[in-house]
Amino acid sequence: MTLKASVGSPFARILSVGAATPSRVIDNEYLLQYIDSSDEWITQRTGIRERRWIGEDEDIKTLSLTAGRQAIERAGVDVAEIDAVILSTISHYHQTPALAPQLATELGLTDAAAFDISAACAGFSYGLAQAEALVRSGQARYVLLIAGETISEITDLTDRGTAFLFGDGAGAVLVGPSETNGIGPVVWGSDGSQAGVIWQTKSWQDAVADGTWPKLGMDGRAVFKWATGFIAQAAKKALEEAGITADQLDVFIPHQANNRITDTLLRYLKLPENVVVARTIQTLGNNSAATIPMAMDALLASGEAKSGQTALIIGFGAGLVYAGQVITLP
Ligand code: UT7
Repeated sequence: MTLKASVGSPFARILSVGAATPSRVIDNEYLLQYIDSSDEWITQRTGIRERRWIGEDEDIKTLSLTAGRQAIERAGVDVAEIDAVILSTISHYHQTPALAPQLATELGLTDAAAFDISAACAGFSYGLAQAEALVRSGQARYVLLIAGETISEITDLTDRGTAFLFGDGAGAVLVGPSETNGIGPVVWGSDGSQAGVIWQTKSWQDAVADGTWPKLGMDGRAVFKWATGFIAQAAKKALEEAGITADQLDVFIPHQANNRITDTLLRYLKLPENVVVARTIQTLGNNSAATIPMAMDALLASGEAKSGQTALIIGFGAGLVYAGQVITLP
């Protein structure tokens, strides 16, 4: 028997972006009460001057809802047409139930498919690949992709190697059908043999036993090496897969892990000087999965980047996992 297959739009694109930045501004000075460091070292080695952490009335849900709502409003799409919600996160406290169904319901969606994905700092591009596939296959008309993180809650403030890196926040995009292609082929992959490069310091079972939360641990040098070597090649491949050359690119939004990583990627890709480069790490730190949509929103809001321009995005992180694609900005 031949079964009916769903039929979707030939192409998909990002229709809108939204973001939520938490209220507490944490400067480098604040962290010096916990770690032996200096404002100068942190700024020079990473580019980070400050980051945002959640305040009393904020959490991963409030941030994700704000970003998601903004993306829906900006797209002007009726919620009844949004068939799926994907939340990309590594900092939601509950392994089950996923947070995405609650977000979908609170955003006014009825009976939408909704699920969380865990791909750390590559989570936005992983989710975008899913959203694009759902729209193009006809499994969903519109997909809301939210990336929400509260990494401050799993940061070990006494760890000199990570305490200063992370910030909280959320970003969201609405992906829908398009007559022209706005999302290039994803270049993605993983290397589980490097699971020990960025890790959770203990399992939840051990956390229950000793009554303290697991935190994030990281071999910063190993990530740095991987990001400036292998990830640089992956970024180049994403350009090739989309059929464009470096001089046709308008905007570059790499995961904001370290300004020195971004500088190395720029040199490797030989991007022209006029390409606009995301540097939100300076004021937002590393927001894991939320980094790329938050940077996209900031660049569009400031006018540095414009709707319709061509941007390369690439994320990389714990897993190890990575994903990147060329997109048309909403
Ligand atoms: O989203 C993906 C997640 N991963 C990342 O974002 C991290 C990528 N990695 C990095 O960004 C960098 O590896 C770090 C910023 C984490 C560290 O910078 P680094 O240049 O790789 O530092 P290092 O570990 O090689 O240490 C260099 C020096 C050492 O001193 P000596 O041995 O040269 O005297 C460290 O003791 O810097 C010292 N150091 C510090 N000094 C002040 C290490 N941490 C600190 C600190 N403050 N917090």
